[in-house]
Amino acid sequence: MIDTGDTWKLGVLFSETGPTAIIESLQQRGALLAIKEINAAGGVAGRALEPVLCDPGSDPQRYGLLAEKMISEDCVRVLIGCYMSSARKEVLPVVERRNVLFFYPTLYEGFEYSPNVIYGGACPNQNSVPLASYLLENYGNRFYFIGSDYIYPRESNRVMRNILRQGGGEVVGEVYVPFEAGPEEFARILRDVAEKAPDAIFCTTVGETTVQLYRAYHAAGHDGRRVPIASLTTNEAEIATVGAQVGVGHITAAPWFNTLDTPASRRFCANYQREFGPDIQVTSCAEAAYFQTHMFAAALDKVGSLDPDQLRECLLGASWDAPQGQVKIDPDNNHTYLHSRIARVDERGDFIVQREVIRPVKPDPYLVTPDLNDRRLRLRKAMPKARTS
Ligand code: ACM
Repeated sequence: MIDTGDTWKLGVLFSETGPTAIIESLQQRGALLAIKEINAAGGVAGRALEPVLCDPGSDPQRYGLLAEKMISEDCVRVLIGCYMSSARKEVLPVVERRNVLFFYPTLYEGFEYSPNVIYGGACPNQNSVPLASYLLENYGNRFYFIGSDYIYPRESNRVMRNILRQGGGEVVGEVYVPFEAGPEEFARILRDVAEKAPDAIFCTTVGETTVQLYRAYHAAGHDGRRVPIASLTTNEAEIATVGAQVGVGHITAAPWFNTLDTPASRRFCANYQREFGPDIQVTSCAEAAYFQTHMFAAALDKVGSLDPDQLRECLLGASWDAPQGQVKIDPDNNHTYLHSRIARVDERGDFIVQREVIRPVKPDPYLVTPDLNDRRLRLRKAMPKARTS
């Protein structure tokens, strides 16, 4: 039996240590906040959700090993976790072989489907395509790519190059930075950036490397207000770490920003900071972990079982009023209809939304229709509101 006992177990697999802890510790808290809310409301069918926590230390192989351990030793049948695609690729064969349901609350490069995964982050048609369109319209057509050295940046850049070319853009430089890179490496890259003089950087570095890159960019005399670093992975946590002076002008495309001024978004931020402290940053990946955990609990409530096949059946097509707005799991591909927003960092270090879609964008993980002029992706100019708290 998989669903006897006093609690419903949920494996929570995020790194609290290592280079991606800056992002994943916030995702872990997103899941834990949802669990706390669900349990405070009486749990699911009278039983509490119980998080089973493991810290893979940002080492991709350890995600696979710990997923296996949680399944065999802790009897976990549902997991949420992973940030880096290299980590997800380690977990994938484990959850498929053991038939475990795996929620992945992170943007990624697309071109993947597993019946065991519910994808809650953006794929390229929901972030790269609108970002490319915005950059071509507002900054120019010469781009320099800087990424961390693993599958997501390399594959994401391949996709971005195709999209930019479709709009008349050109990639004038492309480099990959190892996680252990030091100041000399960044200085060398930034000398090349100065030489090539792009109109914008497309950045796919992650975690601590992002912090180092933005600091080095500023220290080398580059100004985000003139030539921005545009990213899908730089969120509130990285900008808070580097500070407003370094972050100003830089751009991120994501489904949610902490400045989003709606009742659901404000409530989420307030609850998160009440739970984890007023100085903690809330990010789009934390928001995805939060709404995915709530969607899991809603499905569990309906089917009354942790059986992955029954849960999946219930989740496909399900909607949820998330902090970003309504989201829905696409029964065609297990990915999620998400909102698409583009924000620029202002002088206070806040992300101010410049463009957003009117309604959630259907995920197209295989980029069957990679069209820069897709009317459904048309972004409307946002009316920026300054954050009051
Ligand atoms: C990522 O590696 N999917 C950010």
